Amino acid sequence: MRVVIKPTAQDAVQFCADVFSQQLLTKPTSVLGLATGGTPVNLYKELIERNKKGDLSFALAKSFNLDEYLGLAGTHPQSYRYFMQQQLFDHVDIAPENTHLPDGLADDPQAFCNQYEHSIKDAGGIDLQLLGIGSNGHIGFNEPTSSLASRTRIKTLDPKTIRDNARFFSEDEHQPHLSITMGIGTILDSKHVLLLATGEGKADAIQATVEGALSAMCPASALQMHQQATIVIDEAAAAKLSLKEYYLAVEAEREKLTTF
Ligand code: F6R
Repeated sequence: MRVVIKPTAQDAVQFCADVFSQQLLTKPTSVLGLATGGTPVNLYKELIERNKKGDLSFALAKSFNLDEYLGLAGTHPQSYRYFMQQQLFDHVDIAPENTHLPDGLADDPQAFCNQYEHSIKDAGGIDLQLLGIGSNGHIGFNEPTSSLASRTRIKTLDPKTIRDNARFFSEDEHQPHLSITMGIGTILDSKHVLLLATGEGKADAIQATVEGALSAMCPASALQMHQQATIVIDEAAAAKLSLKEYYLAVEAEREKLTTF
């Protein structure tokens, strides 16, 4: 696990944008795993900027999102499809047919989940998977006690997640309690996992992810088993790490190596 601690949230965003740029430059046909929520919004803004300047292109890329609310159409303002259109897809050169999200209105959701797994495999697997993290340690909508080997499936949301996400819904709006999410096993199959977390509200979850026991109680701790997992955090999200000095030293050594 590589732990990158940046002074501010915006520095963390810049670092992640550089990882995306590098990925798309090295492999323009990359398969990208994408996330929604508050955390990636500024990252997507930065990617849009770079795309507009011609510094990176999604023209040959494909994307698969982690999750979607079950019961919401892609045209619903709170659906993750709608979010992705607004926050990224409508502003960059990605081909609409190359963007994939779980279908919240699938007639047979479990059959859809199986098909989603096949589609990812048929595309060659995910090269770079972006993740956020829930305050309870969830990744995608894999809530605590999710199987660490799970695949795309229907998941009931933890009441804590429902409360955390209530800020996106107006008071009289129906907030779904079910989702379709890639499993932890699906996420672990990605070649590179990039987890971005900012703010003090994520400090406990980050501590459990990086320094806690490998446990389904903190789904993100499964990343300890991944060969290329990069955890990018700001100072606030790093506040509860006991080996912070070590992670900073590792990055300083890396800097030296790349300047030789
Ligand atoms: C969203 C997703 C979730 C979020 C997590 C953090 O696609 O997969 O796991 O990344 O709930 O959400 P924010 O960024 O809103 O704190």
